[in-house]
Amino acid sequence: MQSIMAFRSEFQPRRDDILLISFPKTGTTWLIALCHNILSLDDDEKEEVDVLAKMNPHELVPPLDVNFLSDQVQDLLLNPGRSKGRLLQTHLPYNCLPESVRNSGCKIVHVARNPKDTLVSMWHFYNKIFGPFPVERAAESFCSGVLPCGSFYEHVVGYWEESNKRPEEVLFLKYEELSRDPEEQVRKLASFMRRPFSSMEDGDAEVEKVLRRSSFNRLKELEVNKNGVWELHRLPNNTFFRKGTVGDWKCYLTPQMAKRIDQLTRLKLQGTGLSLDDF
Ligand code: A3P
Repeated sequence: MQSIMAFRSEFQPRRDDILLISFPKTGTTWLIALCHNILSLDDDEKEEVDVLAKMNPHELVPPLDVNFLSDQVQDLLLNPGRSKGRLLQTHLPYNCLPESVRNSGCKIVHVARNPKDTLVSMWHFYNKIFGPFPVERAAESFCSGVLPCGSFYEHVVGYWEESNKRPEEVLFLKYEELSRDPEEQVRKLASFMRRPFSSMEDGDAEVEKVLRRSSFNRLKELEVNKNGVWELHRLPNNTFFRKGTVGDWKCYLTPQMAKRIDQLTRLKLQGTGLSLDDF
């Protein structure tokens, strides 16, 4: 709590910061890897750097809200390790962001995911951390919005609306579109980050490199993510890499649960123009 308050009152954004924002379990790890690998392309020209081969993405870019007062985050803010701007992350809803961020002109990338896969991913994550509990209880918390980052729907709608008002500053991505058409989505992301790929052959090779280095199968199999621990939170790194697919909810939710969530989703997204389907 102290950390969130300090983040909200003391954080000084820079115009060239890129803030990665998500509701938990919607693709944060993937987004960090993609953005880091896009920005690293220029570093690679000087020497072959592959930081994520040895470091869990969350360790590289920890959430500011819960870690703002840690030495690691303070050090990261002062020494981001690259001249092109800082890559930062938070799970806070839009209406809880520091006032300074809203007026800074810095870029925000938000990733969203369909609610049923988000719920199932979250359930597995909490099962690993706190021990097993029934999926019905997870579904109940999800639908009532009683979760550490508040309501899933308020979170996504907040950033969706902001991305419509300020498309130059807020980019709204979807996990399912990243899965379905990664090349196109990564090109869009890189242009937004002011690091567009060329439309020539060398641009295609760069896109391929970013996607390969950020891929679920690659990251999951790295020794650091198989057996390492994220020291800041004492969490095994493998908790961030489970299945990495779209539609896994079908293996866990009953038709009744799915129906209830679909109805809630329709209600909450009504009139927003946003759809969160699992394709
Ligand atoms: P599943 O539990 O459905 O497998 P977050 O990163 O926000 O915590 O979200 C975690 C979800 O993203 C998990 O989903 C995880 O497996 C998946 N994930 C992690 N890294 C990924 C990657 N590089 N590509 C695709 N999905 C990834």
